[in-house]
Amino acid sequence: MRPQYLWKSSTCTPALMWLCGALLAGCSLPSVAGEEPAEAQAAPALVDAAPALTTGCADCHGVDGLAAENLDAPVIAGMPAVHLEEAVYAYRDGARQCRYEPLMCETVKHTSDERIADLAEHYASQPRKSSKETYDRELAAKGEKIHARLCAGCHVPPDAPDVADALGIPLHGQRGVYLRYALKSYQDGRRENLLGAMAAKLKQVDSDDIEALVNYYASY
Ligand code: HEC
Ligand code: HEC
Repeated sequence: MRPQYLWKSSTCTPALMWLCGALLAGCSLPSVAGEEPAEAQAAPALVDAAPALTTGCADCHGVDGLAAENLDAPVIAGMPAVHLEEAVYAYRDGARQCRYEPLMCETVKHTSDERIADLAEHYASQPRKSSKETYDRELAAKGEKIHARLCAGCHVPPDAPDVADALGIPLHGQRGVYLRYALKSYQDGRRENLLGAMAAKLKQVDSDDIEALVNYYASY
């Protein structure tokens, strides 16, 4: 059976995890007959399948993943497929809790593994554009230094050539409101820190540093 949660999979050590993730993303298991009858019937044969595939998700994240219509939802365009799947599985099993948008967790709970793999491929292939938020230059400059010291080893910009192999999810161009909320959630224990190494770095930042980092990522 497909592991629901790649981070905790016993066969995936941190070093092997990305390889495991890539293999899993590349070879989804054949679905059991009759597993998802309602969904199978619901998928219409469209020339452009993206709107049908993203039904539900698109209300908040958009078909293109830029979430232009819902400023409370994170940008997921250009997020490597492996990361997208892992984030969804983290919401499904409760490692990430949907405190301000319970419908996000409800939606992914009722989405099949196969469809999540297709959605991950779709959103990963969408161009990541900056959310063009206003930011404070001084804070952004401070944030750039903190990022270089503590975060750059894992979090690379979405257009970096090695983004799909990087351990962290791309943060540059992500919405400030979401980043602030996500960072505070890790610090307050509302999100399980899936990687001990990141938890150690987050212990070294205070709320002023978080503001600086958020302004830096908004400057992308
Ligand atoms: C009602 C709005 C809504 C719907 C519907 C929705 N999402 Fe979300 N999504 C959100 C919000 C808000 C968050 C942040 C939630 C949190 O961490 O509390 C989020 C988080 C995510 C993340 C994590 C982003 C990151 O940077 O780590 C992914 C991936 C994601 N959603 C994919 C999906 C997919 C795929 C679907 C459809 C099956 C979907 N979402 C449906 C609003 C929504
Ligand atoms: C050792 C690698 C590593 C380091 C260093 C690291 N992170 Fe992460 N980060 C990750 C991984 C892996 C994830 C995704 C898994 C998770 O949710 O815990 C993540 C997730 C995140 C998220 C959630 C992104 C999203 O889209 O939901 C934020 C925000 C974040 N990190 C910020 C930071 C900041 C700020 C720093 C530096 C102070 C940092 N990280 C350092 C590996 C790292």
